[in-house]
Amino acid sequence: MSLTRLNIEAFRNIQSAQLIPAPGINLIYGQNGSGKTSILEAIYFLGMGRSFRSHLSQRVINNDDDKLTLFATLNLARGDSKIGLRRFRSGETEVRIDGEKVKRLSTLAETLPIQVITPESFSLLFEGPKSRRQFIDWGAFHADPQFYGAWTNVRRVLKQRNQLLRNGSSYSNIQFWDQEFVRYAEQVTEIRNHYVDSLNELLKGIIGEFLPSVDVKVSFTRGWDSKTDFAELLENQYSRDLATGHTVSGPHKADLRLRVGTLPAQDALSRGQLKLLVCALRIAQGKLLKQQIDKHSIYLVDDLPSELDAQHRQLLLKQLTDTGAQVFVTAIDPAAIVDSLHTPPSRMFHVEQGRVTVIE
Ligand SMILES: Nc1ncnc2c1ncn2[C@@H]1O[C@H](COP(=O)(O)OP(=O)(O)O)[C@@H](O)[C@H]1O
Ligand SMILES: [Mg+2]
Repeated sequence: MSLTRLNIEAFRNIQSAQLIPAPGINLIYGQNGSGKTSILEAIYFLGMGRSFRSHLSQRVINNDDDKLTLFATLNLARGDSKIGLRRFRSGETEVRIDGEKVKRLSTLAETLPIQVITPESFSLLFEGPKSRRQFIDWGAFHADPQFYGAWTNVRRVLKQRNQLLRNGSSYSNIQFWDQEFVRYAEQVTEIRNHYVDSLNELLKGIIGEFLPSVDVKVSFTRGWDSKTDFAELLENQYSRDLATGHTVSGPHKADLRLRVGTLPAQDALSRGQLKLLVCALRIAQGKLLKQQIDKHSIYLVDDLPSELDAQHRQLLLKQLTDTGAQVFVTAIDPAAIVDSLHTPPSRMFHVEQGRVTVIE
């Protein structure tokens, strides 16, 4: 799967641009503030309905406009597909796939799986469990059609349960909801656990190449003590939950633990090594998706050369090329990428003050 055309209107500093990307490596280069990250952000926005930079989606609309428009042609196994997204300053979003209005943003994500690696997103992965949980759930969502429903139910029941706790309900009132909660929590946990197991298989090889002398361990924690029956645990923790006003343990506390020896990865690795670890995780995830449902992800790697030496740039670009997926990388200096590749990039774009030109 690849993008064969991308139109961007009134997105950040890009008034209007058309890109005809190629399969393989697409290099986007230009000076600071030219609009490189904005192009990646536009692709991400089209796949996710939101930005990876700002949770305030209105900010991505060009300052002089009241709406942004994104449009792409996707080359899929079943033929071409056209995706369009329009976002208004009022907050309203309109999405169309092949002319049909789409209501759920998850339909977009299914159509256009995206792996993003940015300096911000990689520090995020080491800051708190939320983004690591999102990482697992990205994979679980694509790998197992049961996941989305089960997870939506977990969230619904959890909200209800927390409301009851805040109202000071007795346990017998809560127990009714707990039967449902336990069922969905176990379903979600089983899918996540299975997913991390499969991912680990692929990850070993990639980490072995990127960080050969480092003993990295990736493991899944479910959000409660795995030796305890969840229903029993909920009952035993009732008074604690009541006191805090929310459910302390459960699948909403699941995490992906990244350790080097006995230390958390962020305490044991340099920034460059952490970046490589995040790249390994994303590449493994994309490869697994290809194995599981024969679908390619699109990779967005912002500022690829930063924090990496020449040898590791080469290794990373080789791994990205080997995925067979379409890749968009940005750099200030194009030589930092071109010199690290065995063959020239499939296509090069130069960005200057929001204007995009293809380099022939
Ligand atoms: N809503 C907006 N309208 C117009 N310009 C914007 C908006 N948001 C950001 N910008 C500007 O867009 C420019 C491009 O940013 P960015 O894509 O991050 O550049 P690069 O990644 O090439 O360094 C920046 O100068 C920024 O100030
Ligand atoms: Mg940038």
